[in-house]
Amino acid sequence: MHCVHEISPNIYWVGGNDRRLERFENMFPLPNGVSYNSYLIMDEKTALIDTVDEAISALYLENVTHVLGSRKLDYLVINHMEPDHCANIEEIVRRFPEIQVIGNPKTFQYFRQYYSLDMSSNYLEVNEGQEISLGEHTLRFYMAPMVHWPEVMFTYEISKGVLFAADAFGSFGAISGNLFADEVEFDNVFLDEARRYYSNIVGRYGSQVQAILKKLAGAEINMLCSLHGLIWRGDKIPYILDKYDKWSRYLPEKKGVVLIYASMYGNTENAMNALAIKLSKRGVKDMRMYDVSKTHPSYIISDIWKYSHMVIGSPTYNMHLYFVMDSLLRELAVLGIKNRKAALIGNHTWSSSAIKGMLEIVEGMKGGVEVIGTPLDIRSTLKPEREPELDELADAIYASLIELED
Ligand code: FEO
Repeated sequence: MHCVHEISPNIYWVGGNDRRLERFENMFPLPNGVSYNSYLIMDEKTALIDTVDEAISALYLENVTHVLGSRKLDYLVINHMEPDHCANIEEIVRRFPEIQVIGNPKTFQYFRQYYSLDMSSNYLEVNEGQEISLGEHTLRFYMAPMVHWPEVMFTYEISKGVLFAADAFGSFGAISGNLFADEVEFDNVFLDEARRYYSNIVGRYGSQVQAILKKLAGAEINMLCSLHGLIWRGDKIPYILDKYDKWSRYLPEKKGVVLIYASMYGNTENAMNALAIKLSKRGVKDMRMYDVSKTHPSYIISDIWKYSHMVIGSPTYNMHLYFVMDSLLRELAVLGIKNRKAALIGNHTWSSSAIKGMLEIVEGMKGGVEVIGTPLDIRSTLKPEREPELDELADAIYASLIELED
């Protein structure tokens, strides 16, 4: 049966959820599923905003058909041309051959790269700020390149102040009936997944997120509709705008320490635990510790986005940095992490390369991550005679934490 929700008079959510998908983009675990949102505006003209992933096509097409009733679809707006939102474009155009498909030159270029249907006669190319009236509703288009792909645009419905924001303001996690962020315990249930989504999917494009936030500063926004996750409205909007502003400026949400280690036989892990206890005794609260070989990197990256400090511990492997740690640090560099402090612990038995490898990557994070304290290079196991060095490292981390403004 159809499953739709009128989110504002004559504006309908017609999306759906996938709780079976194991990994988003075949990479990021989805313990709570994911939603694919699409919206249908019913007016003198009808307009569908984006489509959904092929996994939920059957329900999606039923939803659209139900809301349309006997009417035809006049416009399809493509805010984002990534397949998790585009799998139904061909079917929609086949069902409504007169439809005008709204996008920009890159939208249509990517459509041709992915699909084979010639719909060039349906193209309606729009520019920055261009408006299209549907009757009572008017759509205005804002280009938002690299939030998260080059063709991305946002569609702003002027009469109600509804912003259709492509992937921005989205989250992992399926929707459980409550569509609006103010209807759930967002901080308990969705915030970590929203941050994991942002940091891993959009994290690299902080300056482009800042650019679109500035561009929209003057617009009255009453509702924020993402392609994934919950809808934001009313006085909840400043909350998510503030999170996005922080995340996209690479500013930590919280003073705190994430300890990340690789450990083959438990000895680097032991050093990290010993350091964590020393930090706790100095008053550091709410620490997080992860084994990079156990926890998916997307969760670790998300907490690095949240906290101000990290401790990175790793053994040498094959006379290089242990490659799981190497891969995590290189991804952090790709994502452009900034404004963080890091302390380092290396471990080796017969060839010391871990600290060199960590320093090379961390110092290459352009102006991003400052190394604090003296890196501690242990030999196989942490011996009691090296405890003073561990204390010095704990002191340096603590001093750096208390220096930081709240
Ligand atoms: Fe949900 Fe960038 O696609």
